[in-house]
Amino acid sequence: MTLKLKPLELSDSNEKELFLQILKENYTKVPYPASEDIFQRGKHFFFAFDNNKRIGVTGYHLKTPTLAETIKTVILPEHQGKGYGQRLSQLIEDHCRDVGIKKVMSTIYADNTKMISIKLSQGYTIEGYHPDHEAPGWHEYSLGKILG
Ligand SMILES: CC(C)(COP(=O)(O)OP(=O)(O)OC[C@H]1O[C@@H](n2cnc3c(N)ncnc32)[C@H](O)[C@@H]1OP(=O)(O)O)[C@@H](O)C(=O)NCCC(=O)NCCS
Repeated sequence: MTLKLKPLELSDSNEKELFLQILKENYTKVPYPASEDIFQRGKHFFFAFDNNKRIGVTGYHLKTPTLAETIKTVILPEHQGKGYGQRLSQLIEDHCRDVGIKKVMSTIYADNTKMISIKLSQGYTIEGYHPDHEAPGWHEYSLGKILG
């Protein structure tokens, strides 16, 4: 597996449309569907490729010069369950470290045990529980990791 990140070109409307389409079709357990609003300053998005095969998307939001929240990690359904999710989680963390970020965090819906278990296995700790967070009935954990 040779997983690589290709930055989303924010000036390219086709790339933005494709990214949004992937989220709308595959990141469905959210209270509000993804919209153009996600492409704000401070947010960085990537398509993930294994060789030339697009297997998912990911991103991060630079909250301070040294703190990043990793966001919108999705593995396309046909590629799930093969270790790509773990690999992509690690890859976006590695990218954050490479650009000088000192701490990464992530908020994950409380019933997303798959992603929570991936982050815990990669050294994240649970730093908070947020009931009724983005919307009533949508509970989240926040997990964080200080990058050494
Ligand atoms: C979450 C997601 C990225 C995981 O990707 P994936 O490629 O299927 O995951 P992987 O194959 O790398 O690994 C899954 C790991 O979780 C484990 N797992 C699978 N189902 C699980 C569950 N219900 N509860 C806990 N762990 C689970 C697997 O056993 C595996 O760990 P192991 O290798 O130690 O056995 C993918 O399911 C996805 O895109 N979901 C929709 C969007 C989403 O929820 N994104 C995360 C937002 S925070």
